Amino acid sequence: TVTLLATVVLAYLLGSVPFGVLITRMMGLGDLRAIGSGNIGATNVLRTGNKGAAAATLILDGGKGAAAVLLARALVGPDAAQLAGLAAFLGHLYPVWLAFKGGKGVATFLGIMLALAWPVGALCCATWLVVAITSRYSSLSALVAAATSVLWMQLTGNHRMVLLGMILTALVYLRHWANIQRLRAGTEPKIGKKG
Ligand code: G3P
Repeated sequence: TVTLLATVVLAYLLGSVPFGVLITRMMGLGDLRAIGSGNIGATNVLRTGNKGAAAATLILDGGKGAAAVLLARALVGPDAAQLAGLAAFLGHLYPVWLAFKGGKGVATFLGIMLALAWPVGALCCATWLVVAITSRYSSLSALVAAATSVLWMQLTGNHRMVLLGMILTALVYLRHWANIQRLRAGTEPKIGKKG
């Protein structure tokens, strides 16, 4: 249990690294929280106009979720991997370094799914892409990808992931509340637009 506890704490700390804020600052692109939606994710980094910075944020925010899962699986086991995924996700949403004001969790969600069961992760990524290409709304793509994740888990036989999927989906919706209001009002900016 000491190893489990240490792994969960480590997963939270990994998840809490705000790569978007760090990358934009290091590249001299300004304070991310004063740009666009103010969110710390890749979608908002793209609003600086720097595609490389946005791609790096996407990969690193996804990578930290995947790393937490893989580490916990190697050190403890499959159940710990799910718990570590949740801890990393909460780290991204509520990072101690930013007074617990973190991101919306989409990239980290995808990284966690890919590491827990790659077919589920791949289907979630594909869902995000299909909605993004057709609608050009990042938030809508995330909302659909999260909501359908439980379906992909059932279809691929990953029934043990369903509870985690439901918890993460609920948190994704909670964090996208302002986006949902803007989507309903027709004022949500499309991908790459400043908003
Ligand atoms: O990844 C978060 C995305 O779904 C919405 O981001 O900055 O448009 O609120 P943003």
